Amino acid sequence: MHQQQLIGVAITGSGSALPPVALDNHGVSQLVETSDEWIASRTGIRQRRLADPTTSLVELAVEAAKGAIAMAGIAPTDLDLIVLATSTADDLFGSAGKIQVELGALQAVAFDMTAACSGFVFGLATAAQFIRTGVYRNVLLIGADILSRWVNWTDRGTCILFGDGAGAVVMQAQSSDRLLGFELRTDGTQNSSLNLKFQAEPKKLVEGVTIGQGGYQPITMNGKEVYRFAVNKVPEVLEKAAFHAHINIAEIDWLILHQANQRILDAVAERLNIPPAKVISNLANYGNTSAASIAIALDESVRQGKIQPGDIIAAAGFGAGLSWGAAIFKWGK
Ligand code: COA
Repeated sequence: MHQQQLIGVAITGSGSALPPVALDNHGVSQLVETSDEWIASRTGIRQRRLADPTTSLVELAVEAAKGAIAMAGIAPTDLDLIVLATSTADDLFGSAGKIQVELGALQAVAFDMTAACSGFVFGLATAAQFIRTGVYRNVLLIGADILSRWVNWTDRGTCILFGDGAGAVVMQAQSSDRLLGFELRTDGTQNSSLNLKFQAEPKKLVEGVTIGQGGYQPITMNGKEVYRFAVNKVPEVLEKAAFHAHINIAEIDWLILHQANQRILDAVAERLNIPPAKVISNLANYGNTSAASIAIALDESVRQGKIQPGDIIAAAGFGAGLSWGAAIFKWGK
């Protein structure tokens, strides 16, 4: 019987965009009772970039996308699909359509997807399905978030952590497969550990018909629970992805974790016996940029010449859902 040949996936370009304005920990300590020393020693974060009120998520996403498209050496009209991983779209109906038009990628179908800080890894796995099955050849995946708009700036347990930004990659069909393996997980029983929730006020329309109208409430988080979850679950999911990829953890050249907290990065690397020199970290400068963080760290490392074509990268995202996932891929064509 004829067996359908699955098509390989390559990640051929990256880009990133960050708002120009930085707020350092001294600035945060003017808002809440905290200090640079406390924040830096508990999280590794020194400053974060924050979008001004006129900056849209689409603008950041388009800038990151342009970098990735140029590096991949394709034209926007070559794109078949645009996936925007975000929790903070400019429009709840989706922002991917505006990105499509601003890039001039008029052939591409475009949609948003939400998996919070796991969004980039979930997006990688989602986009890969379309490529592997031969449906699309050139896919743009963007991870972008402006969480500063949803942070409670009087809550010192959360406002110290987050920053804004966007990162993007171009994924292409090719004969040799560079996406070696992935594993995705969700545990909804822990959903209440990290939320950005809609709160409905009852509004009676007519007798017997009441609807809910309201708005999204600022981020709430049980920091200890999320910390424990990340340190326990991320090594496990990386091991599963490595198993699917048929590689040993020791073969990984670079570990790019979602940039949430340096202590989480260190603990995961230590559990997996990955030396600190292989762990990519830029959270001191940007804080936790949610769906963008892995792609920004990847792009910076590629542009610095740290990550070279053929290097094996293990990426893992984790966060609200709770959700977590890992993908192992070789960089470049
Ligand atoms: N500055 C100074 N003190 C602070 C503080 C801050 N920003 N935030 C909390 N504290 C205080 C608390 O009030 C508490 O004081 P108490 O002992 O007098 O009650 C003490 O520090 C310890 O608080 P706790 O919440 O237990 O701190 P922690 O060691 O768990 O650190 C986080 C808090 C948020 C840094 C940590 O839990 C964390 O990073 N968790 C993971 C969060 C994350 O990455 N989320 C995103 C995932 S996508």
